[in-house]
Amino acid sequence: QQKTLKDAYKDYFPIGVAVMPQSLRGDEAKLILQQFNSITPENSMKMGAIHPEENRYNWADADSIVAFAQANGLRVRGHNLCWHEHTPKWLFTDANGKLVSKEVLLKRLKDHITSVVSRYKGKVYAWDVVNEAVDDDSSRLYRNSLWYQICGEDFIVKAFEYAHKADPNAQLFYNDYNTERPEKRDRVYKLLKKLVDAHVPVNAVGLQGHWSIYEPTEKELRDAIVKFASLGLKVQITELDISVYPWEKNVRAKTASDIDKYTPELEKKQAEQYSKMFRIFREYKNVISGVTFWNTSDRTTWLDHYPVPGRKNYPLLFDVNWQPKKSFWEVVNF
Ligand code: G3I
Repeated sequence: QQKTLKDAYKDYFPIGVAVMPQSLRGDEAKLILQQFNSITPENSMKMGAIHPEENRYNWADADSIVAFAQANGLRVRGHNLCWHEHTPKWLFTDANGKLVSKEVLLKRLKDHITSVVSRYKGKVYAWDVVNEAVDDDSSRLYRNSLWYQICGEDFIVKAFEYAHKADPNAQLFYNDYNTERPEKRDRVYKLLKKLVDAHVPVNAVGLQGHWSIYEPTEKELRDAIVKFASLGLKVQITELDISVYPWEKNVRAKTASDIDKYTPELEKKQAEQYSKMFRIFREYKNVISGVTFWNTSDRTTWLDHYPVPGRKNYPLLFDVNWQPKKSFWEVVNF
């Protein structure tokens, strides 16, 4: 009997995976159904994809993913309702190309969130309501996005209120990356504390988990989980992948031979990092309410294009032929 992720973690938390509509066919669909019990549309629910013009929605891709989940008894995490990236062209400007007022932008946000959340009410159990609104630089709390420039911090509160109104049963998340690095962690905490103190309907925090074999450390991960849990919030790992390369290295590589290769040594280090991270998730099973991988296998990953375009990465549990890697066995055998 082959071991699976979802069975190994049935007494802990759902195990999810980010998908595109084309992932839900053939070998990949088979692997998804065998191993996972939750899915997240990788791009299909982002505002630029689902709401390309002011009064036009493009539901087909998101609908197909939700229908697949319904047909197969998988949960769906919705991703995402308000982000500075992947926004449609029309969103921030009027017919003359001038930036819109705060009032107009909040109305657009409300219409968007109300339509999307209502459509999938009862089918999407959790939403990443606001994504990456905290700045990377410690001198400021908020990212200086157009959302922030036009609305100030109010867009964050409003986004949660609109989502809660559209589906009072959905779990509502603030989602961000590098949340284990102490400075960013403390700024995300500051934002969440403000929201919780003001009784904004936020239930949970998503730690994206775009990690590497070098970070975070076990202490950093524990400290972050404990700190966010102290606010009474649930924690999910929402976009897990473990790059086999150090984040910055290779960016200035001049030729293909300068670029790091995926050696057996790196594969072993990656398995050790996966093992450490999952041991901690299990330790905090009362707080961790889900772990989602950012893609099914090393065949397709955004890390092939970022931060070094064209450099292949191998950040997941299954290889390019859908076979389990050392990291998979470390995660399921505990
Ligand atoms: O589908 C079009 C295709 O028709 C076109 O030819 C091509 C040309 O660039 O673009 C394709 O769209 C791309 C899309 O992925 C689908 O592959 C977009 O350009 C590209 O920007 C988009 O990238 C996604 C990125 O978010 C931006 O939305 C990645 O797939 C996705 O993995 C990544 O995921 C994010 C999370 O949402 C938030 N956290 C960080 C994470 C990684 O960046």
